[in-house]
Amino acid sequence: STTDHIRNFCIIAHVDHGKTTLSDRLLEQTSTVQRRDMKAQLLDSMDLERERGITIKSHPVSMLYQLDGKDYLFNLIDTPGHVDFSYEVSRSLAACEGALLLVDAAQGIEAQTVANAHLAMEQGLEIIPVINKIDLPGAQPEVIEQQIEDVLAIPREEAIHASGKSGIGIDDILEAVAKRLPPPRWTEGPCARVLIFDNVYDTYKGVICYVRVFSGTLKAGDEVMMMGTGQKTIIKEVGRFSPSMIPEKELAAGRTGYVVTAIKNLTEIKIGDTITQASDPASTMLPGYKEVRPMVFSGIYPLDTSDYNKLKASMAKFQLNDAALVYQPESSVALGFGFRCGFLGLLHMEIVQERLRREYDMDIISTYPSVVYKVKLTDGTIKEVHNPVFMPNTDLIEYIEEPTIRATIHTPSSHIGDILALVSEKRGMCDHTETVDGTRVMLVCTLPLNEILIDFNDRLKSITKGYGSMDYEIGEYQQSDLVKMDIMVNAEPVDAFSSIVHRDKAESRGRVLCERLKEIMPQQMFKIPIQATVGSKIIARETISAFRKDVTAKCYGGDISRKRKLLEKQKEGKKRMKQIGKVSIPQDAFIQILKTS
Ligand code: GTP
Repeated sequence: STTDHIRNFCIIAHVDHGKTTLSDRLLEQTSTVQRRDMKAQLLDSMDLERERGITIKSHPVSMLYQLDGKDYLFNLIDTPGHVDFSYEVSRSLAACEGALLLVDAAQGIEAQTVANAHLAMEQGLEIIPVINKIDLPGAQPEVIEQQIEDVLAIPREEAIHASGKSGIGIDDILEAVAKRLPPPRWTEGPCARVLIFDNVYDTYKGVICYVRVFSGTLKAGDEVMMMGTGQKTIIKEVGRFSPSMIPEKELAAGRTGYVVTAIKNLTEIKIGDTITQASDPASTMLPGYKEVRPMVFSGIYPLDTSDYNKLKASMAKFQLNDAALVYQPESSVALGFGFRCGFLGLLHMEIVQERLRREYDMDIISTYPSVVYKVKLTDGTIKEVHNPVFMPNTDLIEYIEEPTIRATIHTPSSHIGDILALVSEKRGMCDHTETVDGTRVMLVCTLPLNEILIDFNDRLKSITKGYGSMDYEIGEYQQSDLVKMDIMVNAEPVDAFSSIVHRDKAESRGRVLCERLKEIMPQQMFKIPIQATVGSKIIARETISAFRKDVTAKCYGGDISRKRKLLEKQKEGKKRMKQIGKVSIPQDAFIQILKTS
């Protein structure tokens, strides 16, 4: 058929196993880009991505390849590696027929290797295992081959040994893509079915959708319909990335590329939706479409209340580029006016906050993150609560349910005891364990999502000295004995510090929070009590003693300019404080507090 020469594939890997380096090498080898034109790393574009070493969003790239006199069109689709974006990963995989599964030759199989491989298998993709970084002195290709066979049930003979750095095995990989991966599937349908697997906002063109055409064709001028939302629009442009945008007359069945429509707002186009021709619509959508729902919520407030409008404008602008972020205005007694924001997960939350600070130059405070609780009230109704402030009074509550996760943890066997202790400390249960090879184990655990929000991953890394990894998927809701804990500073509740905790943990957590606050808060002009309460009961208490800090005292008689500098500095310090009643709380306190418990 006419699509025999097309291969749509992606590269899946654990963080840092060398995906970007290898992708760049494939582009270079197929002369899609010249070596001298390549920036150090072509596919990762945002600064933050580079710093954190995660791929958030990169576009699909088309390459031309020849083998035995036959011309192939390869479309390499990038997938974000992190679990927060797992729906996006699954949509990107759905656009492919095959995947290169990279495994670091020294590190071996990690949590995301397994999670991503399973996602790819669920989509029915053909998998080519690649043992990467074979040039490393610590490379153990035989051990890794065994892991691939044991953990993923892929025959070891299929693994290609490669190095994105030195170029070993690159030709083998390209040849395997042509020979082992199947041509595009589902091309026969009479009507157009086009999967939107990702999208980005472009200031000039509006929303650019990354698409995979399964059947039919799309071209500029077509009136199309989004089957999930029912929205109709006109196609303005179609084309491919090679690697920059190259417009084409049409995108036919089997192809991967981009589509620009008249829709200007990212939130109106859903990832996973199916585009069809409005005049001749397909009868069924492509499988797998779902609305993504935020899992983690947190308040974001301007440090300086007069910055509210600036923050509002920044949030609106931010959402243009990130449709997964949801927000609505809220107000807090302690913090004034701000926004309640919903995120896909913790990493997503951190990225949003960090970008607001850096790219939008906002001084912001974020409140303790919360999951979405389902509260069964005595009147029989169910209320969803994602802000502790709105937790109903205990006498109105029949029970509370919280979301759980199913976590897969990989760790060196020597740390298994400590990991099990951590899981149980976090109210988790280990469902089963499996040996990866003589030195590593895989644990499958169920944990409350709330318990892994803050420091679970850091703790895991520190216990395993960096050799452990985790991946998770959202599990069921479960009933738990949860209570709302408030923090009172100078007898006033600081709503931004309220949180929902398990009853058994309230006291120890309250104590830690009070101690931490005492450490963080500067001494004030008067004595201040800090208390943790559950209902009307005080469960922990600390006192900040009175003291007046005079930073200039030591420069007695000294040089005036130095004294002025210190005063300036003190003023700076004041600016970064939040006034709560008569007490100033440093901006930092809100962030520091997040890191306890
Ligand atoms: P994320 O996109 O952040 O998940 O990372 P990645 O998987 O794209 O990894 P990347 O290509 O950024 O490589 C991670 C690190 O491994 C970098 O320091 C690379 O220089 C190094 N690296 C990548 N490929 C090889 C290789 O074949 N051999 C060696 N020795 N190092 C490599």
